[in-house]
Amino acid sequence: MLLKNILPFIGYVLAAESATKTQRTYSQYSPKSSEIAEAAATAHTSHETSDVEGAFFKRLVVIWLENTDFDKAAESEGLSYLAQYGITLDNYWALTHPSEPNYIAAVGGDYFALNDDRFITLPSNVSTIVDLLDSKSISWGEYQEHQPYTGFQGFNYSNQHTFANDYMRKHNPLISYESVTNNETRLSNIKNFTEFYVDLENETLPQWSFITPNMTNDGHDTTINVAATWTKDFLTPLLNNSYFMDDTLVLVTFDENETYADKNKVFALLLGGVIPDDLKGTIDSTFYDHYSEIATVEANWDLDNLGRHDANANVFSIVADAANVTNDDVDTTYKVNNHTYTGYLQDNSQAFPAPNITLKNKVGNPVLPAIVSVWSSEYEAQLSQGFFTSTTTTVTGNIPDATTTASSNGTASHSNSKSASASASASTSAVSSKSSGGANSVHVVGISAILGFAAALIL
Ligand SMILES: *[C@@H]1O[C@H](CO)[C@@H](O)[C@H](O)[C@H]1NC(C)=O
Ligand SMILES: *[C@@H]1O[C@H](CO)[C@@H](O)[C@H](O)[C@H]1NC(C)=O
Ligand SMILES: *[C@@H]1O[C@H](CO)[C@@H](O)[C@H](O)[C@H]1NC(C)=O
Ligand SMILES: *[C@@H]1O[C@H](CO)[C@@H](O)[C@H](O)[C@H]1NC(C)=O
Ligand SMILES: *[C@@H]1O[C@H](CO)[C@@H](O)[C@H](O)[C@H]1NC(C)=O
Ligand SMILES: *[C@@H]1O[C@H](CO)[C@@H](O)[C@H](O)[C@H]1NC(C)=O
Ligand SMILES: *[C@@H]1O[C@H](CO)[C@@H](O)[C@H](O)[C@H]1NC(C)=O
Ligand SMILES: *[C@@H]1O[C@H](CO)[C@@H](O)[C@H](O)[C@H]1NC(C)=O
Ligand SMILES: *[C@@H]1O[C@H](CO)[C@@H](O)[C@H](O)[C@H]1NC(C)=O
Ligand SMILES: *[C@@H]1O[C@H](CO)[C@@H](O)[C@H](O)[C@H]1NC(C)=O
Ligand SMILES: *[C@@H]1O[C@H](CO)[C@@H](O)[C@H](O)[C@H]1NC(C)=O
Ligand SMILES: *[C@@H]1O[C@H](CO)[C@@H](O)[C@H](O)[C@H]1NC(C)=O
Repeated sequence: MLLKNILPFIGYVLAAESATKTQRTYSQYSPKSSEIAEAAATAHTSHETSDVEGAFFKRLVVIWLENTDFDKAAESEGLSYLAQYGITLDNYWALTHPSEPNYIAAVGGDYFALNDDRFITLPSNVSTIVDLLDSKSISWGEYQEHQPYTGFQGFNYSNQHTFANDYMRKHNPLISYESVTNNETRLSNIKNFTEFYVDLENETLPQWSFITPNMTNDGHDTTINVAATWTKDFLTPLLNNSYFMDDTLVLVTFDENETYADKNKVFALLLGGVIPDDLKGTIDSTFYDHYSEIATVEANWDLDNLGRHDANANVFSIVADAANVTNDDVDTTYKVNNHTYTGYLQDNSQAFPAPNITLKNKVGNPVLPAIVSVWSSEYEAQLSQGFFTSTTTTVTGNIPDATTTASSNGTASHSNSKSASASASASTSAVSSKSSGGANSVHVVGISAILGFAAALIL
């Protein structure tokens, strides 16, 4: 079912920081149970599969858990059990806080200045990983636990007995993109766990999928032990299922770390049939962030890019090696990634940032031609207006790497000086002239944005 009537309206919610900045707001779709039942009866579910060769894997399964600091995740019984079968990524970063911007960025290559979990939609001319996958007919889908029916676009679906939080739109990365929701075919790939088991049984799993457990199982409303145990229980039978495992790479990670005042590094683990025996139980300290999830897909299937932060992001090493990609060293000494930049979704006066249509990704491929044709004149216009440079902010982070974090050159950093500080220039637009992954992950902003963020937290 399509929801053509989710029309954004302009709200005049004053950002606490300034009397002139107005936040972009949207009408929230919150259907009643009766409406949900009616829509569920006619919802169409696709079971598309495909078998497109990649440089390193044929299937990527991404699983996101919630709000946990690195050490707690690494020490949990469930994830430490699984880690012996995979590669732990100990230098993997979330992008900002809270949840939703991280989820949308992992499929769209930017979070467009979102700094909360509200109901949003992104215009239909904004592309995602789906457009890249479709360009080579690589099947894709999402599995969202307890989403009441395929393609549901509501804000939440609570447990109908206890009314506890169960499915939440904010943890569904593709549902905020109209380029997905305005297309019935695409909407029919936004499925729930019932359909995951149908696809597993019928051997119709797509080649790219994103799995979100419910608010209990992902740890959001519970603890890391619940989330880690759920993950172990979910994956253990799959790890013995040759249909699931063969040629498959699984990524388990977290949307963000829990403590906002700290650096936003999260636990991440690669599993699956493609992990070579000699790498099981090892650690990869290469710098990655959520944009690496798109970059890795582009490198594996030799795809074009979105012209956003995906283009410069590092590719998971095992895939980079197979695809002949050289990753960048990224200095994380003063990286924090703990708050968002000011832009489109926070400031209604700002245009939607054009993608940088000239970018090439790490496998040397250009921006997807369909994106270039939609955005090229807007990119030139924004360039001539100085839009990109005007949104660049010079900033300071003040937490140096402390103990265990491997530095960008592979040696452990033991810097611990609390008084040290450094400036970083963060391009807050979708485009970046830097070749290093640092440019796409340093989202440290000026004091005004920090105040705005603090105000949003209080609200
Ligand atoms: C999952 O989605 C299917 C297809 O729309 C629906 O029939 C089913 O009831 C949903 N399952 C759950 C547990 O909500
Ligand atoms: C969404 O959440 C609200 C607040 O918890 C709840 O009252 C409402 O019933 C939920 N909606 C659905 C469809 O579950
Ligand atoms: C989340 O899903 C599990 C089953 O996987 C279920 O036991 C639990 O009750 C669900 N949480 C809520 C709040 O409904
Ligand atoms: C709708 O989605 C399908 C499948 O993803 C795609 O092939 C088609 O081009 C899309 N249509 C439009 C108008 O974007
Ligand atoms: C597998 O697909 C067939 C139709 O192709 C369907 O009848 C059957 O119910 C599916 N299996 C499962 C486990 O849903
Ligand atoms: C998986 O297979 C191994 C041996 O191949 C076996 O020891 C283990 O019990 C199996 N686990 C499950 C959950 O079936
Ligand atoms: C982000 O980290 C900095 C340290 O670099 C800290 O001063 C600031 O309070 C943090 N921001 C938030 C919102 O916690
Ligand atoms: C969040 O991640 C950072 C970066 O690794 C780490 O220093 C910090 O300890 C984590 N937060 C907590 C509370 O562990
Ligand atoms: C990577 O380089 C090797 C050696 O030059 C070549 O055999 C292989 O085909 C390349 N792989 C890709 C995916 O380009
Ligand atoms: C766009 O990317 C190119 C590299 O292809 C870079 O030289 C240019 O500075 C970028 N544009 C902007 C506005 O950042
Ligand atoms: C993208 O879509 C939005 C919303 O419809 C529109 O305002 C904007 O002009 C479009 N931009 C381009 C480059 O097509
Ligand atoms: C490399 O690591 C050493 C030892 O920690 C450090 O002194 C040096 O500054 C690092 N260089 C870079 C470029 O990060």
